[in-house]
Amino acid sequence: MKQPLDGRAKDLIFREARSYNRWADEDISDQTLKEIIDLMKWGPTSANCWPLRVVFVKSDEAKARLKPHLGEGNVVKVMTAPVVAILAYDTKFFDRVPEFFPHNPGAREWFIDDENNHFETAFRNSSLQGAYFMIAARALGLDCGPMSGFNQDGVNGEFFPDGQYRSNFICGLGVGTNELLFERSPRPAFETVAEIL
Ligand SMILES: Cc1cc2nc3c(=O)[nH]c(=O)nc-3n(C[C@H](O)[C@H](O)[C@H](O)COP(=O)(O)O)c2cc1C
Repeated sequence: MKQPLDGRAKDLIFREARSYNRWADEDISDQTLKEIIDLMKWGPTSANCWPLRVVFVKSDEAKARLKPHLGEGNVVKVMTAPVVAILAYDTKFFDRVPEFFPHNPGAREWFIDDENNHFETAFRNSSLQGAYFMIAARALGLDCGPMSGFNQDGVNGEFFPDGQYRSNFICGLGVGTNELLFERSPRPAFETVAEIL
């Protein structure tokens, strides 16, 4: 086995990482946003298909475009976040398989024949990439606030009008504060959710 991460790294990424509702008044540089992508990009996807597409909503103008599509309980959380990422997937991800999977460009055919298969592949892998995204952000010292409470069709129409990309979830990024942060919810015991056969 390789040398594991130390306890602080595990705390930062998992044990002490929370889903935040309110944010300190601290900007995130564009460089840091680039670093998130530069780190999370190494997480695995099937046939390296890399369906995730990210829109970092940072300016007041861009936030105003997002606002009408947010669930009521998420409006303040989004509008006060330094940055909110829209994590979406490319429904035509398979067109880039030859580029991203050069040792087997024919893998494109695995996906294009079957609408269900390529939806499932895009959704599964972009969801995984959303998790890599949050882990990378946390590893860089940022806090996250993931949300699925928004009108997907509304966000798709506003940000992806040609229909090729579809939103999966959105994620506030910043330095979280304890305001409106409820007690950490319990997590299941190993025996409840896992077994070793
Ligand atoms: C995909 C996803 C969607 C979520 N949607 C919302 C949401 O719309 N609004 C909200 O306030 N919290 C939302 N949450 C936050 C969860 O309730 C939170 O992550 C969970 O309770 C664990 O909290 P903790 O990370 O602080 O332990 C979402 C989380 C995830 C991962």
